[in-house]
Amino acid sequence: MPGTCVIGLQWGDEAKGKIVDRLTREHDFVVRYQGGANAGHTVMVGEQVYKLSLLPSGILTPGVICVVASGVVLNPARVIEELDGLAARGAGHEKNLRLSDRAHVIFPWHFVEDRAFDKNTSDGENIGTTGRGIGPCYRDKVGRSHAVRLGDLYRPELRDRIEHIVEIKNRMLAVHYPAGGFEPLSAAAIYDEYTAYAQRLRPYVCDTTELLLAAAEAGKRLLFEGAQGALLDVDHGTYPFVTSSNSSGVGIASGSGVPSRYMDHIIGVVKAYSTRVGGGPFPTEQDNPTGQRLRDRGNEYGTVTRRPRRCGWLDAVALRYTSRLSGVDSIAVMLLDVLSGLNELQICTAYEIDGRQTNVFPSHVDDLRRAVPVYESLPGWKEEVTACRTFGALPSAAQKYLHRISKLVDRPIELVSVGPERDQTIVVK
Ligand code: GDP
Ligand code: IMO
Ligand code: MG
Repeated sequence: MPGTCVIGLQWGDEAKGKIVDRLTREHDFVVRYQGGANAGHTVMVGEQVYKLSLLPSGILTPGVICVVASGVVLNPARVIEELDGLAARGAGHEKNLRLSDRAHVIFPWHFVEDRAFDKNTSDGENIGTTGRGIGPCYRDKVGRSHAVRLGDLYRPELRDRIEHIVEIKNRMLAVHYPAGGFEPLSAAAIYDEYTAYAQRLRPYVCDTTELLLAAAEAGKRLLFEGAQGALLDVDHGTYPFVTSSNSSGVGIASGSGVPSRYMDHIIGVVKAYSTRVGGGPFPTEQDNPTGQRLRDRGNEYGTVTRRPRRCGWLDAVALRYTSRLSGVDSIAVMLLDVLSGLNELQICTAYEIDGRQTNVFPSHVDDLRRAVPVYESLPGWKEEVTACRTFGALPSAAQKYLHRISKLVDRPIELVSVGPERDQTIVVK
């Protein structure tokens, strides 16, 4: 069976881009299958740093077909911007791109709605979305009446459809902004803008479900690139402080159209500590000098929005849950170098909720808010690890930390990353 999957096991930004880049050369197809331009995946090639939001990370490697599958919400302007940005740097392999005609299209009204409704209405805490129109586009997809798929951009009814939707959206937004505060949308301008995008992207739009099924049946090697992380999964994450797609392993088949029988290896990507961007509970958060130190050393600022990421200790309760949920075979532990120089490390091994200890990740966000982490302390290490290329070369305290993570999560460690560059990687035998 030819399928490999890369899934983030925390709240995103686990350095999935680096792992996908590493695996790309062993595959024929790289597939993005959920999320949209809320993702920011960093790939380093030599001295060059590439930040990709919608294009699969495989676009930097020749000879690999890069698929944006049906489960993605696609901002065509952003795709074009990324393609042009890569071309200007003499990078990227645009001809290898395939865009699903079933992918839903992000429109200007989705951005306005994202700004207007970024509230968890139950207690007023903002979700803190990336503002990329993701939630509103998925809402329209599921609602069906006001949705446009990429394939619809080439249909004769498009003008009428946009006029109809814009009329409804303008009325709805006028209710939300009674004192004005938003510029009514122009159907004619949006139609012109999107037909221009459609022309530019036309060579790449196709039925990617059929393409991928045929590839899987022919024994081609498929690499599925998850966006966000399992704790942001709309069904199984820290709802409502989540994204609007199935960003854990459960979303691979639905988002790509490829059944799970074709997936034989699922890698869970884990930072050696925890980060989160946006609102919502984060039991092991260190809103203190320790957190600031992780932020400084890990350069923990959002790839998409540049917001400072909230930082904290590794949470093995959450990781045990997300690796089981995602059907993970092995884990890749990233950014280990960031921990060098700390005297002591903490791993959360259980939560205490209302006086009771549990290692079950709570299904309700209010229970998670009350969870007090139970920590296990491990000795830190002073040495820099960025030059280590074998597991045995790591300081013994670092080896113990990794062994302990593996034991708590009950999965073998396959890779350890000790720096952002391609070769700063340890393959664990
Ligand atoms: P993704 O969204 O999961 O692909 O991750 P991001 O690209 O948003 O964030 C990961 C960041 O960590 C990027 O800036 C990477 O270049 C960087 N990075 C990846 N691996 C390592 C590592 O082992 N050590 C350090 N210090 N940085 C890393
Ligand atoms: P990658 O793929 C980290 C977070 C946002 C917000 C919540 C909902 O780079 O790991 P959305 O705009 O999706 O409606 O925002 O999800 N979020 C991410 N956090 N990494 C990401 O992607 C994220 N994509 C969305 O900060 O809390
Ligand atoms: Mg990211």
